[in-house]
Amino acid sequence: MYTVGIITASDKGSQGKREDLSGQTIKEIIEKENYKVTEYIIVPDEKEEIKNAIIDMVDNKSIDLVLTTGGTGFSKRDVTPEATKEVIDKETPGISEGIRNFSFKITPKAMLSRATSGIRKNSLIINMPGSPKAVRESLEYILKALSHGMDILKGNDSECAED
Ligand code: MTE
Repeated sequence: MYTVGIITASDKGSQGKREDLSGQTIKEIIEKENYKVTEYIIVPDEKEEIKNAIIDMVDNKSIDLVLTTGGTGFSKRDVTPEATKEVIDKETPGISEGIRNFSFKITPKAMLSRATSGIRKNSLIINMPGSPKAVRESLEYILKALSHGMDILKGNDSECAED
């Protein structure tokens, strides 16, 4: 069982002006698998606050998987990928490329997400767009590969079985 932290980046959500349906969608999908959500925070679209939330979950709470939603688009306030890039040790481009590639089949607007992903210490951080629909499409697609990646990251598996 891996622990999960959800970070919702949303100015309106952080002010209580919008219900965080995307964060709830992440929890609903990820807990059907071998994961338990133990941390959850809504932060405004501020780079330092997003960075601090990731660092706290990884360094202080030892969360295995940090999933962010929101702030990946073209608006002036969208800074989640920039915050993430500043706190990761290694990029994991395949995850974000995979999400976008799959999403292109659903909507060309997928190209408007600048989402990134990477490893900090022993934890994986993955950005997803802000809508519940985009979260569902992104997360359900990566689940199978994700579990293998998490096993390798955590040292619970070293073999890549053919499939
Ligand atoms: N990806 C998927 N799978 N499904 C979607 O509906 N919406 C796109 C894109 N990625 C979408 C998607 C849209 S409309 C935008 S603007 C960008 O994600 C950025 O979203 P964000 O600013 O909420 O992070």
